[in-house]
Parts: sequence; structure tokens; C-alpha cells
Amino acid sequence: MTVTFRPIEADELMEFAGVNLTAFGERLEPWHANWFKDRRQQSVTMAAFDQGQMVGSSMFFPVEIAIPGTVVPAAGVTAVGVLPTHRRRGVMRGMLNRLLLEAGERGLTLAALWASEGGIYTRFGFGPAAQSLGMELQHPRAKLISGARAGEMTLVSLEVAKRQFPKVHAELVKRRPGMVGRDEIAWGYALSDDDPNRPRDASHLFFLSHDSGRGCDGYLIYRIRGGWSPRGPEGTLLITEMVGTSDGATADMWRFCTEVDLVQRIDASGRGCRPVDDPLPWLAHDPQAVVATIRTTLWCSVLDTAALLERRRYQTDGDLTIHLDASRDLPATRWHLTVRDGVASCGATKVRPDLTMSRSELGALCLGRRCLTQMVAAGRVRAQSPAIARRAEGLLAWEPQPWCFEDI
Ligand SMILES: CC(C)(COP(=O)(O)OP(=O)(O)OC[C@H]1O[C@@H](n2cnc3c(N)ncnc32)[C@H](O)[C@@H]1OP(=O)(O)O)[C@@H](O)C(=O)NCCC(=O)NCCS
Repeated sequence: MTVTFRPIEADELMEFAGVNLTAFGERLEPWHANWFKDRRQQSVTMAAFDQGQMVGSSMFFPVEIAIPGTVVPAAGVTAVGVLPTHRRRGVMRGMLNRLLLEAGERGLTLAALWASEGGIYTRFGFGPAAQSLGMELQHPRAKLISGARAGEMTLVSLEVAKRQFPKVHAELVKRRPGMVGRDEIAWGYALSDDDPNRPRDASHLFFLSHDSGRGCDGYLIYRIRGGWSPRGPEGTLLITEMVGTSDGATADMWRFCTEVDLVQRIDASGRGCRPVDDPLPWLAHDPQAVVATIRTTLWCSVLDTAALLERRRYQTDGDLTIHLDASRDLPATRWHLTVRDGVASCGATKVRPDLTMSRSELGALCLGRRCLTQMVAAGRVRAQSPAIARRAEGLLAWEPQPWCFEDI
């Protein structure tokens, strides 16, 4: 098998989309076709061919990703797939190496993706940068504690949702690492009811707007899956997206979910997943009625280490030297970071490193995830001493912790 790699031509877009959907075991629906057409213009594609037949797909499009205290330009890597007839022969490796090189040459700071399987991407320098909670609430067993309402909630039309929700989301992007900025195309798909992967047995989308008196400061997108048993109603409220820019808005929207009649269960998974610091377990009278499962929702690879470490903000001052091991196609590098009054400078150095790690571990840390001492305990990061590991964690971690629900 001799595989060649190149970007696709304009008339190959639907073949490219078809290869990708086949790799995922799905059929190309009009919804997917439109998505590929809409994203085509800004995208960089890389396809693989075996004797002229397309056998692999991959692409990225530019996105803005929130890192601690600011936002950086990044490559949203997606549509990575290889036909089942051509797997485990280096086709994905050939595509991704080329794609990531191109993303770096375009000056993008990060590459980011959602991974179908966690074992795939560390070899390309990606680390699990944002974790989120899939949450399930058994209602009415959970019963939420009472509290004063922070604002008013209104069910709104799609048109109003299109006007109000993007501003709330943009506000969250400013505050929460891991959030991916949405353009008009992304909003069109986020509010669309035609997604072929939507739950077939559930209602259309409902849109709820929360207003604390100064305009919309939270929104909830949900569906209802009706259900009946001899005991009575057994419906489920499926949260598609819940965004509150104040604690009060989030608490109000959780209470709203538990007050919807005919609902016995609330399910916040998929795009509805919650941040690791969601207040729900503390809102419930019975915290054991809340079942939370942790999942990795964003993988990041740092393409420009100095830019990333200089542009992000820090919640404490300090100095740190990080050695990045050589990986298959990149040499080892060593960086000295100095943070004074929250302002960082970073340059190459030869001094003895405080920390030694691979690019994948840097990817896991780049959004401020508090996991450095755990990675040292696991032997993934080598620190000069436990005290240095704790100090480094204090410097690199950020509050609030990263959260991502975007299906890049
Ligand atoms: C995942 C997928 C793209 C891999 O393509 P591939 O051409 O078989 O991968 P390669 O042969 O280039 O593998 C490169 C390396 O990744 C490893 N790898 C490939 N698929 C893997 C998987 N699912 N889990 C863990 N490791 C995997 C290979 O073993 C190889 O390891 P090495 O570096 O030690 O040699 C392909 O199996 C696929 O299309 N799967 C279904 C769709 C999917 O999940 N896409 C990913 C979207 S996020």
C-alpha cells in the first residue's frame, strides 16, 4: 500500500465527508453535508489516498480558545477518520503530522480536539486539558434546598435565543478556560434541531432565558423525553446546554429543571455536561441522588510554548523551568518562565529544569487544570522535589478550572 497525502480539491468535499462518516460508522446525512460545506472555506484539510482512492480525512478550522485570563487563536482539529479497510498502517499519523505542522506555520498557539478514544492523541502532543461532569439527578429524591430566586426565567423562541444566548456564551468565554468561541456557523448548529445524532425519542429543543434584572445572564437549552409507567410519569429532562454567568442564574436554572412537571430524572451529559465545580451536589438535599461521571471534553496540544506561557495569566508570581522531552519528530526544548505582578516572560534556557515532561503533559496543563502533583505521583512528570511540584502547581493552576462542552 502506497499512501499519499494532500489537501482536497473543491469537488472532493462530499467524498471527504463520506470517508469521515464511514470511519465513524455513520451515513452521510444532509445535516453533515451542510456542515462540511459551511466549514469548508476557513478549513485546512488533509486527506489520504491509496492508488487514487480517498481512504482518510482530517481537517482543522480556526477557533478562539479561552486559556487562563485570555483567549488565543487555535486549530480546531476535527473529522479525523480512516476507512476500516486501511487502519493501523500509519494513515492517521501521516495526516495529523502534516496538519499540525500547517497549524504551527499559521501561527496558531494551540491545537484542540474532542477525542473519540483517549488512547489516540497523546503521541501527537495532546493532553486531557479540560474535564467535565456528566450529571444525572434522581428527582424528586434529590429535592433542592430552597433559596431566593436571583432572577426571572422565560421560555423564548428560537429567534430570541439567537439574539440573547451568544452574548451570555461570549461572557463565559472571557471567564472560563476551555471555552471555545462560537461564530455564526457554530451558533446555527448549536441551536439547530436537525442534528442526526439527537435523541429520536425526545422532544424538540426548548429555550429558557434567565434575567437577573440587567438582561439575559443565563440560558438553558433542553429536551423532554416523556415516559409513563403504572406508577405514573417517568419523564427525563435532557440538558443540551446550561450556561449561567452568575451563581444565582445557575442555581435558578437547576431549580427550574426540578420543577418541570412529569419529570423524574434530569440528565446533563454530552453537550449538557457540567463544569467540575458545578454547585448541584450542594444544592441537593441528598447529594447521593446526584451521580456524576468525569469525562475528558477537550484535548490540547501546545504549538507555540513561549506564546502560550507568556499570553496566559497567572494567579501568583513565580519562576519555573520546564524541560520538554524530545518526541518522535520534535527536538527537546527547555523554557524558563518568570511571572511578576501577573505578567509573564518566557524564553529558551539551559539551566537545570524544575520539571521534565512530554508535550502531552504540557497540553494537559495549558488551560490551568490543577493536576500537576497528580501527574508527578503517577510518574508522568518529573519534579526536582515534591515542594517544587507543589509550587509549580500553584503557579500553573487557574480558578475556575477548565470546562468545555463544544463538539469541535
Ligand atoms: C482512530 C483512527 C483515525 C486511527 O487511524 P489509523 O490510520 O488506524 O491510525 P495509525 O495507523 O496512523 O496509528 C498511529 C498510532 O496511533 C495508534 N492508534 C490508532 N488508533 C488508535 C486507537 N483507537 N486507540 C489507541 N491508539 C490508536 C496506533 O496504534 C499507532 O500507534 P504507534 O504510534 O505506537 O505506532 C481510525 O481507527 C478511525 O477512523 N477510527 C474511527 C473514527 C475515530 O475514532 N476517529 C478519531 C476521531 S477523534
